[in-house]
Amino acid sequence: MTSIANGNTRITPVTVLGLGPMGRALASAFLTARHPVTVWNRTPGKTGDLLDRGAVAACSVQEAVEAGHVIVTCLIDYDAVRATLAQAPGGWENRRLVNLTSGEPAQAREMARWAASHGIDYLDGAVLTPTPAIGTSSAAVLFSGAHAVHEAVRETMTAVGGTGVYLGADPGRASAYEVALLDLFATSVNGIVHAFALASAEGIEPEGFAAFATGIGGLLPEMIIRFAEQLRTGDHPGDRSTIASAASGITHVINTATSHGIDVSVLSAAKKIIDRAVADGHGAEGLARLTSVLREGGVSRVRR
Ligand SMILES: NC(=O)c1ccc[n+]([C@@H]2O[C@H](COP(=O)([O-])OP(=O)(O)OC[C@H]3O[C@@H](n4cnc5c(N)ncnc54)[C@H](OP(=O)(O)O)[C@@H]3O)[C@@H](O)[C@H]2O)c1
Repeated sequence: MTSIANGNTRITPVTVLGLGPMGRALASAFLTARHPVTVWNRTPGKTGDLLDRGAVAACSVQEAVEAGHVIVTCLIDYDAVRATLAQAPGGWENRRLVNLTSGEPAQAREMARWAASHGIDYLDGAVLTPTPAIGTSSAAVLFSGAHAVHEAVRETMTAVGGTGVYLGADPGRASAYEVALLDLFATSVNGIVHAFALASAEGIEPEGFAAFATGIGGLLPEMIIRFAEQLRTGDHPGDRSTIASAASGITHVINTATSHGIDVSVLSAAKKIIDRAVADGHGAEGLARLTSVLREGGVSRVRR
């Protein structure tokens, strides 16, 4: 990849398209790593201190693409990426596009096909850590897509910091990890806010509740690793706790929350899955067994 001399190193010019919180953090990390950085954002005025630190604001997407050799997109969704890239129909020779926008695996694969049909070297990616981690050792970014493109951008992307993991040629792979992790995050956040709602309805102070709630949170890492092992072996022993016991526990939560007029729609959906597992004879098994119950589909599925 063509690079320009910068002190003793040859360093790649980088363009960042999108200056939301994450785009700004990425641009900042590339500047810190002494890359020449060009930025573009649909709405002007989002550059923060980037220009003072040496970044150049491009007047158009086309100009931004021509200024960088690695083009990083970090926008709200894939539609925004497509709408943005449509404004740069040419000038992609010797350039690599690294799309760090969150999306769905199918969208990432479709984007890779679109890029190939336009002669653009494409790598998909997913940022797993919040903005303060970017440029530090705790950053975590996944990449997937053409190996040659990853090899070409690997060194440049080390500026983002931390762990950059290449997951192979399927462009949807990084996104697949991201959506599964977002699944965990979204349901965890729902659990946290629901528990606070129930606790406060029972007159418990948030801080007092938090002291015990963090203990529940602390159980999760060990549980995740144990479930992974059980899913690999297909053995879900109910020696620590059972699905039948969870059915009883969640009923207490739903009844108490309902008595306070708290929305229980998510818990009721979770209870349906637990009830289905019990009805199918899995009540004595451990909670990891619910994974396959979920994959077997809805309540109206045809029994084998
Ligand atoms: N923030 C985080 O902590 C974090 C962590 C991991 C992953 N991510 C991912 O990183 C991506 C960017 O996130 P973000 O936090 O920077 O902010 P965001 O709110 O998800 O995205 C804002 C960016 O998208 C642009 N945009 C929205 N609609 C557009 C359109 N139709 N055409 C062109 N540009 C458009 C905005 O431009 P305007 O300013 O013109 O509206 C802005 O640059 C997302 O996919 C997000 O999921 C973020």
